[in-house]
Amino acid sequence: MLVKNALIENAEKPQDIRIEDGVFKEFGTLERKENEEVIDLKNRLVLPPFIESHVHLDTCLTAGDPVWNMSGTLFEGIECWHKRKEKLNEQDIRTRVNKVVRMYAANGIQFIRTHIDTTDPSLMAMRTMIELREELKPIMEIQIVAFPQEGILSYPNGKELLITAVKMGADAVGAIPHFEFTREYSVASLDFALNLAAKENKLVDVHCDEIDDEASRGLETVAARALELGLYDKVTASHTTAMHSYNNAYVLRLMRLLKMSRINFVANPLVNTHLQGRIDTYPKRRGITRVKELLAEGINVSFGHDDIYDPWYPMGNGSLRDVVFLGLHVCQMMGYEEIMDSWKLIGQNAAKTLHIADHYGIETGKPASFIVLDAKNYYEALIKDSKVLYSFKNGKKIVENTPAHTHVLI
Ligand code: FE2
Repeated sequence: MLVKNALIENAEKPQDIRIEDGVFKEFGTLERKENEEVIDLKNRLVLPPFIESHVHLDTCLTAGDPVWNMSGTLFEGIECWHKRKEKLNEQDIRTRVNKVVRMYAANGIQFIRTHIDTTDPSLMAMRTMIELREELKPIMEIQIVAFPQEGILSYPNGKELLITAVKMGADAVGAIPHFEFTREYSVASLDFALNLAAKENKLVDVHCDEIDDEASRGLETVAARALELGLYDKVTASHTTAMHSYNNAYVLRLMRLLKMSRINFVANPLVNTHLQGRIDTYPKRRGITRVKELLAEGINVSFGHDDIYDPWYPMGNGSLRDVVFLGLHVCQMMGYEEIMDSWKLIGQNAAKTLHIADHYGIETGKPASFIVLDAKNYYEALIKDSKVLYSFKNGKKIVENTPAHTHVLI
């Protein structure tokens, strides 16, 4: 197949792309071969597929069922989820995950990292999600984090459940240090999780310090263990909202360790601006980690949704455009280059976090997976909320969108 007139990754000059046997064959000004299928993009933006680096697929699409979270707080969300959990069964998870994965696909996402709760003696969601990971492969590459929602040491048999989930086939080990009963449990839970990952050769993704408590310092332990165990960029710290409230002297010291550890960060602008700062009067904290400062230090950061239409977040449509759009605002990243490059927060930065860089990106020899947006660059795509016109996976078209046309009549 020959793809004509593609503006690859915000390039000003169009290029043609040849795809053969599902991989990128060559780039440049290319002539059509006999019988070759041609698509003329007429100078539209081509990017590698978008990546959702943090979501909870087991809770998606359950908002208001059976009750709405009226206060909008994290804690009422937990109460609502407790009621919804009674209805949880394999078919329920299958129906919702299939639906939400297609919502994501329609918006150009081809990779998802999902956290699945392991604090359930039956591990039903984990077992179902492992089956779905296989079944959904033609449309989505899914990575599963074994996520101990109610703690590793603070939940009955938390350690054993986490080990079982990892042995069942989870891709990454999770932890939730700020939710453990004590600071000692918090440190011990991280020791346990990171050692388990090192032993089983898994990735790590910790729900780390998702709280407005400036004394919540799981992050330093995550980074220190990533360094000491040689796990480095196999480790990700998600949320880290407490970092928003750390004093600057402490952050200055912490940055050295973060750089040495080479860990990744995931921020979730939609959900954390909604959930954090809830006990503040005024001024209210924004509830997001120090994205701009981390990036300036050369530390890898990506953006995720976290929740889609569930007890913790009553919105979300599977489009990472809104995540980036709000993130740029609350992180005050509105410089021209910052806006142009912001696709990387749901692109190559997220690929680094997921450790998929070997088969991700628009390069000769790599799988021909890419998306086409109805814009000339990502700045314009953000402003126009441009549709993803096509999504190609391994050279096969898996999504096609036809944009609506609006006519102003006066
Ligand atoms: Fe999360």
